Amino acid sequence: MNPMVKAEGVCKRFGSLEVLKGIDLEVQPGEVMCIIGPSGSGKSTFLRCINHLEKVDAGRLSVDGDLVGYEQRGDKLYELRENEVAQKRQEIGMVFQRFNLFPHMTALENVIEAPVQVKGESKASARERGVALLHQVGLGDKTTSYPRQLSGGQQQRVAIARALAMQPKLMLFDEPTSALDPELVGEVLSVMRQLAKDGMTMVVVTHEMEFAREVADSVVFMDGGVVVESGPPEDVIRSPKHERTKAFLARVLKKD
Ligand SMILES: Nc1ncnc2c1ncn2[C@@H]1O[C@H](COP(=O)(O)OP(=O)(O)OP(=O)(O)O)[C@@H](O)[C@H]1O
Ligand SMILES: [Mg+2]
Repeated sequence: MNPMVKAEGVCKRFGSLEVLKGIDLEVQPGEVMCIIGPSGSGKSTFLRCINHLEKVDAGRLSVDGDLVGYEQRGDKLYELRENEVAQKRQEIGMVFQRFNLFPHMTALENVIEAPVQVKGESKASARERGVALLHQVGLGDKTTSYPRQLSGGQQQRVAIARALAMQPKLMLFDEPTSALDPELVGEVLSVMRQLAKDGMTMVVVTHEMEFAREVADSVVFMDGGVVVESGPPEDVIRSPKHERTKAFLARVLKKD
């Protein structure tokens, strides 16, 4: 079985700024990986490389055995065309800090938009699945609500349902709860917890240490564009080995 994500020596720079300096990691199918680390350490950039919103400068990155953005023939790499990249990106769901729902569409319309427009699914079948997905995220009674009529936590749950509507094999979350009022964080985390239980492969950038401790199979601490420390949460969060990990955790755990 292929790892769902495999990064080998992934490097990324913006001009003279080296943001990723050789990231190596693997995410197995069904695994939940939480990535933690200080602001500017390259967490979002790494996530964006996984679905080829950013191009890596060196190293290799593959999703479910396929190189991200490239095709290998013999020992040569060929860059995929934009429509081929878009095709691959459909297999990966992404949820951002800001919900980015279409404001002029209801919750259900938001959820069925991509399956209908991009995949050509029939409206009837997309609606049926969409309603089920909204139920799954606890919003069965909000199918006809517009984003402005929903709380931040509800909007974020619609965003999760919308990503799931494309039946992704991998879900990427970039600080999905950090724009939410504290009392709304729990409802989003509980949807993510259930998703993890159902076996979804997930890479989650988060500052929610309790969630990471409880739900993650592995935790990766990034700092300055490198993986400083990784392993099961009981190692990385409960008994970190590196000074940088200890200092970071002392800072974020104090806030809790
Ligand atoms: N498109 C870009 N052009 C130039 N610099 C960028 C670009 N995107 C990110 N950077 C820089 O790369 C570095 C890493 O950014 P990144 O967003 O990956 O960090 P992060 O770990 O996600 O931080 P945070 O916790 O604040 O979200 C930062 O110094 C950032 O300013
Ligand atoms: Mg970020």
